[in-house]
Amino acid sequence: MNMQIKRIGILTGGGDCPGLNAVIRGVAKCAHDQGIEVIGIEDGFEGLVEGRARQLFNKDVSGILTVGGTILGTSNKGDPFHWPETRNGEIVIVDRSRDAIANYEKWKLDALITIGGDGTMNISNKLIKMGLNIVGAPKTIDNDLEATDLTFGHDSAVFVVAEAIDRLHTTASSHHRVMIVEVMGRYAGWIGLNGGLAGGADIILLPEFPFHWEKIFAKAIERNRKGKRFSIVCVAEGAKPYGGEILAREVDIRRTDPIQLGGIGEVVAKKIARETGLETRFTVLGHLQRGGSPTPFDRILATKFGYQAIYLTLKKEFGKMAALKGDKIIAVDIEEAISRLKLVKEDNQAFLTARAIGVEFGI
Ligand code: F6P
Repeated sequence: MNMQIKRIGILTGGGDCPGLNAVIRGVAKCAHDQGIEVIGIEDGFEGLVEGRARQLFNKDVSGILTVGGTILGTSNKGDPFHWPETRNGEIVIVDRSRDAIANYEKWKLDALITIGGDGTMNISNKLIKMGLNIVGAPKTIDNDLEATDLTFGHDSAVFVVAEAIDRLHTTASSHHRVMIVEVMGRYAGWIGLNGGLAGGADIILLPEFPFHWEKIFAKAIERNRKGKRFSIVCVAEGAKPYGGEILAREVDIRRTDPIQLGGIGEVVAKKIARETGLETRFTVLGHLQRGGSPTPFDRILATKFGYQAIYLTLKKEFGKMAALKGDKIIAVDIEEAISRLKLVKEDNQAFLTARAIGVEFGI
């Protein structure tokens, strides 16, 4: 391995997710083994712009494999190219990418490993074009990056959804109710699809497929008529009715993605109750899906991504991101990785399987 790399930075960007610490640990342990210093940048790109970082020693990354969140902190408001500043009580957006680069140089970094989703990779790509040596590791519970079969964090989120649906089943069947569970998934419905399938949901509503209300009502009524006097609906936060709009809870221009979604679960619950006369309840899983210890699968995937990231760094393959293809960890261009989102399509096997066993998608 090439020992010209003496000092690297590492940061976690965007929403937290189980497995971030496992990547940090994987990177740091491999780096230390090669005599490379690791500088942990705090709160994602915010820390890079503001000059907040600390050296990571072995003791800092010991015992964090199973710990959720990120020991470095993260932020979805720290985009150097879209930096929110308050001037005279008003938020104005400025470009602070020069500060990010100045700190990279001040800390004498030979390379930077960025761990994050599409927002983080987009920022990384712009910084690469300005001359920084960056290697990426893909995270997001949404699993919406086309360039990798899976991102770590997704399996952990699906586990939470499946467990929640298992628990909701008991009240659903005891009280003969339609139980609606709202899960995360902004533009891609992988958590809803995989979590719903794993939990045995009867109706799954995804952002990719605007749904028809009548089909949902019909499914719940039909189940009742057949003696199944309850139904489980798994709805992604980004799902919308045919001809309708996604529900934004809040818009915050300081965020990399300004829209905070939420509320469709309640709408679905009220509408089903009104139109069918069936009793309904809704549960919003929210950040429970991002919390807690990563599943064994995510721990392994995250550790492999960490190793791949340092391997690419040592080979000076900058501008690349670790990715999973089949059972292999490969390298893809970050530029390529951010070019499109991975969405659920009608020929997806999980989607086809769900339909074949009678799950209603409202389409
Ligand atoms: O992108 C990951 C994600 O968990 C989305 O599924 C969700 O819409 C969003 O982050 C929530 O972000 P925040 O924690 O900033 O509200």
